[in-house]
Amino acid sequence: MLHRRPLFPAAFALAALSLAAFAQQNAAPASVPTGESLGPYYPTPDSIVDRMLQLGALKAGEKMFDLGSGDGRIVIMAAGKYHADATGVELDQNLVRQSSAKIKSLGLTGTARIIFGDVMKQNYSQANLITVYLLPKALPQIQAMLEGQLKKGTRVVAHDYEIGTWVPVKSETIPDEEGRAHKLFLYIR
Ligand SMILES: C[S@@+](CC[C@H](N)C(=O)[O-])C[C@H]1O[C@@H](n2cnc3c(N)ncnc32)[C@H](O)[C@@H]1O
Repeated sequence: MLHRRPLFPAAFALAALSLAAFAQQNAAPASVPTGESLGPYYPTPDSIVDRMLQLGALKAGEKMFDLGSGDGRIVIMAAGKYHADATGVELDQNLVRQSSAKIKSLGLTGTARIIFGDVMKQNYSQANLITVYLLPKALPQIQAMLEGQLKKGTRVVAHDYEIGTWVPVKSETIPDEEGRAHKLFLYIR
């Protein structure tokens, strides 16, 4: 008599594998960061980015962080032109994808990166320079968070809005290519 092995275990294993693969493909990213939006996406013109990094006296090899990095333009200029070690923090997943792709296409992955996360939940204790362009109402909480973390001598450059009660060591107003005035504030902790 022909002995037939039941097909059920093999079919069951195959179905379980397919189901696992489907679940993996359709799962939400392992960790989608949460956080309060501290400002909408509104990019800084390139000439103003350059001036922010000059004002912050960014030097080759220094560590800089852009708090709310948008399309990554500050991080990219910091790494590409100033040869710094540059990190952006961004809560918008599309902007993280876009800026990370640009960093890769420019061959800057060794010195530039974007963290998909909340600016309030990162470690800035090694920073030499911080740049920030967020809404005024967010800046007191940024101030408190940075006060608890920054090492002595860290420079902070803020665009358009002053940071809480800090007193800038330098401030300036400069026009962009379209004539719009931008205020910049330099702080040294
Ligand atoms: C005014 S844009 C500045 C973009 C870039 N720094 C520049 O100057 O071109 C502010 C950015 O901060 C991001 N943002 C707002 N709240 C955030 C948070 N809690 N954590 C991380 N990014 C945040 C926004 O998605 C936006 O891209």
